Amino acid sequence: MILQIIDICYLVAVVLFIVGIKLMSHPDSARRGNAIALAGMLLAIVATFLTPGLNNIILILIAMAIGTGSGLYYAKSVKMTAMPQLVSFFNGMGGAAAALIGLVEYGDLAVDEIGKGAVLMASLIIGSISFSGSLIAMGKLEGVIKDIQINKILAFVLLAVAIAVSVYVLQSGEPQPTLVYVIVLISLIYGLAFVYPIGGADMPVVISLLNALTGVTAATTGLLYDNKVMLMGGILVGSAGLLLTLLMAKAMNRSVANILFTSFGGSAGGPVGGDNGDQVAKEINLYDSSILLSYAKRVVVVPGYGLAVAQAQHAVHDLEKALEEKGVEVLYGIHPVAGRMPGHMNVLLAESDVSYEKLIEMDDINEKFPNTDVVMVIGANDVVNPAANDDPSSPIYGMPILEVNRATNVIVIKRGMASGYAGIENALFFDPKTRMLFGDAKKVLTGLVTEVKNM
Ligand code: TAP
Repeated sequence: MILQIIDICYLVAVVLFIVGIKLMSHPDSARRGNAIALAGMLLAIVATFLTPGLNNIILILIAMAIGTGSGLYYAKSVKMTAMPQLVSFFNGMGGAAAALIGLVEYGDLAVDEIGKGAVLMASLIIGSISFSGSLIAMGKLEGVIKDIQINKILAFVLLAVAIAVSVYVLQSGEPQPTLVYVIVLISLIYGLAFVYPIGGADMPVVISLLNALTGVTAATTGLLYDNKVMLMGGILVGSAGLLLTLLMAKAMNRSVANILFTSFGGSAGGPVGGDNGDQVAKEINLYDSSILLSYAKRVVVVPGYGLAVAQAQHAVHDLEKALEEKGVEVLYGIHPVAGRMPGHMNVLLAESDVSYEKLIEMDDINEKFPNTDVVMVIGANDVVNPAANDDPSSPIYGMPILEVNRATNVIVIKRGMASGYAGIENALFFDPKTRMLFGDAKKVLTGLVTEVKNM
């Protein structure tokens, strides 16, 4: 009877996970989605405690208290901009847990249990890769680890050796505890070799992929313990991570292989010229910009990575309020890969209480540009680069962009003429409709608020 109750609880928990993930797909319902998924996880944990013959309850409770306490502390104290690092760290811990479970369970594995043994080896290898890879990804996002080129063939040889040793261990017919540690060690090194060469700005895609791998290890661990909620939860994380990876790659018009095996984006932010042949970028000052903005009917703000770097989310919201007091309609055009992580702009703008209704997705805002008086591009570059539409030789050709040059006027706020993530020139800056307002996004926006209010 108790086993049936546990199974029903697990089933309900999985349904809650699915509903939670579904609700997380929109900013309005994301908090509710998170709470529902949390309820599912609590139910799964309580049901697990009902398992007959569960030992070491005190130890489990102590481990849970440490995990919950530190998780709460880090989640509450982390800066919004350091969120990807935290996600990467949590992900790495998931991988480490799977690898440790694999190590512990190997002691209880009978030598003839080949099927279970194969699942265990998968947990060991994938969990270890996910652990070391996630920590390197975290270091890269934090800027403390630089790109190091590692021979890709050598890296694959490491993975092949780890798999070959696992096959040997499984079919050797006797316990091989030392070799199991060797498998973990080689897999850890492979995780480092896999992530080290990838450009720092591509880390969100890598983290999403590593997240999918951790999901797979949760599923394999679920198989090991015959625990259905772990199996299904792992499958959900694995598939969600994989889908997110594919969606991010698609939104950047790059293949996942291109992201993983070339160092595109590693040298983002390099300088490019201030002129484009005989064209010169035209400047505008704070005062003239504030006139243009104050007398507009509709202003569309296009935020990008530079807005996040400058922490200008509050300043842009202040400008929005100042303009609205003058009767100007202010909207935000959100590109799916603006910034450096999925939903980066939504999270950032939500932090400063910008209303969700004002955040307009790419296809919808593109339709509104012809009826927009001023587009204000703030710290964005690649996501507004017309080369994506016009230049087949451009590395971003085919990437959907915000077609800001369809508006009447464009003001671009950035510090200089440096390139963005893709490291390429942007013809928008030389468009006759465009004016460059140079400076740090936060300083410029703060200045604009003062000018608009004084008008
Ligand atoms: P970027 O193309 O990276 O351009 C950002 C611009 O911000 C730079 O040109 C820089 O120019 C400016 N900037 C930097 N600091 C600034 C500051 N303090 N104040 C004002 N401006 C500042 O950004 P984007 O348009 O958001 O495009 C995102 C890129 O990242 C895309 O290529 C995308 O594919 C890639 N990417 C996105 C993701 C996700 S999921 N979002 C993941 C991986 C890669 P200055 O130095 O001249 O100021």
